[in-house]
Amino acid sequence: MSKMAAVVESGEDAFKQLFKFYKRRKPPPDFSDVIDFSEHRCTGKVVPLKLNPSAVCDAAAYRVGLHPARDWRAYGLQGYPGFVFISNPFRKGSQPFWIRQCLKTYPQKPNVCNLDMHMSLCDTQDIWQRSVHSLSSPSLPRRQEKSLLERLRWVTLGYHYNWDTKLYSAEHHTPFPSDLETLSQQIALGCGFSDFEPQAGILNYYRSDSSLGIHVDESELDHSRPLLSFCFGQSAVFLLGGTQRQDPPTAMYMHSGDVMVMSGQSRLLYHAVPRILPAPPALLSPELQNLPASTPPEQQQQQQQAPPSELEPVSEQDWAVCLRYIQSSRINVTVRQVLGAGQSFPQR
Ligand code: SIN
Repeated sequence: MSKMAAVVESGEDAFKQLFKFYKRRKPPPDFSDVIDFSEHRCTGKVVPLKLNPSAVCDAAAYRVGLHPARDWRAYGLQGYPGFVFISNPFRKGSQPFWIRQCLKTYPQKPNVCNLDMHMSLCDTQDIWQRSVHSLSSPSLPRRQEKSLLERLRWVTLGYHYNWDTKLYSAEHHTPFPSDLETLSQQIALGCGFSDFEPQAGILNYYRSDSSLGIHVDESELDHSRPLLSFCFGQSAVFLLGGTQRQDPPTAMYMHSGDVMVMSGQSRLLYHAVPRILPAPPALLSPELQNLPASTPPEQQQQQQQAPPSELEPVSEQDWAVCLRYIQSSRINVTVRQVLGAGQSFPQR
């Protein structure tokens, strides 16, 4: 293993070099410079952040599967004002709901996905149903063809991002999912954004060898609004750079359940995902490791006493498919506000 992270200096290729370093398979890179917020240690650049827990009502957080906001462990990074990392604020047992939404519900029409680009509407009508058989039968001989779910790379929600023009438009819009809207608003409230309006979402689906290149999310028309990012499944190395493409980045892990907020001076920073890594078993909540999620009798009473949850239970059948998928994959959901209050798209 070679150690490079510390020696990459600012310079023309600092970001690119580090991207390649963490992407490399042979020899494997040294990950010792990657910040791990799950260790809950404020060393180096990591600083504890005080959020605004009184802005989030406990019952509202509970309904979307979050711990009370006073228990969220939030961190910032020196040199990155406006960057917030919340280390898995999800209650035990709630991630399966969000994973099922990302795999079964959000890829459905009228949302848009990469498969629509080269398949007919009727072929992409029910990606989940058409993938279930092969994903729930581990004993099937090695399949020639990947299921649609395994070929899913992205889904867009709300104002659908146009990957060619890099624009959003008034014409290409469908309703933003209300459950994801509520989840995003609770996170935004806790971070001090009381009027965040989730208007667009991009889901990225990563296999173990996927990466996401260096980019900045600037297509939204109002950059004073935060960008929220939710991770599920396997872990990733995330690189957060500066306002210039070549600025040297900071590397950090994103594990399942982690939430990141890019706002203020950190809203328009270059970033990338060079590497997907197996989730450390200790960080994957038990329900993400095993077949579900039937509530042990000793927890049942506790659950009945708790406030009602709006999260629909995930059936064993659905969870078997999700679990098989996320055992080798990562899902990232970014939620954005495209237009500021009173703003509209420019006439073209
Ligand atoms: C993105 O930058 O759009 C996604 C980042 C991630 O997958 O964590």
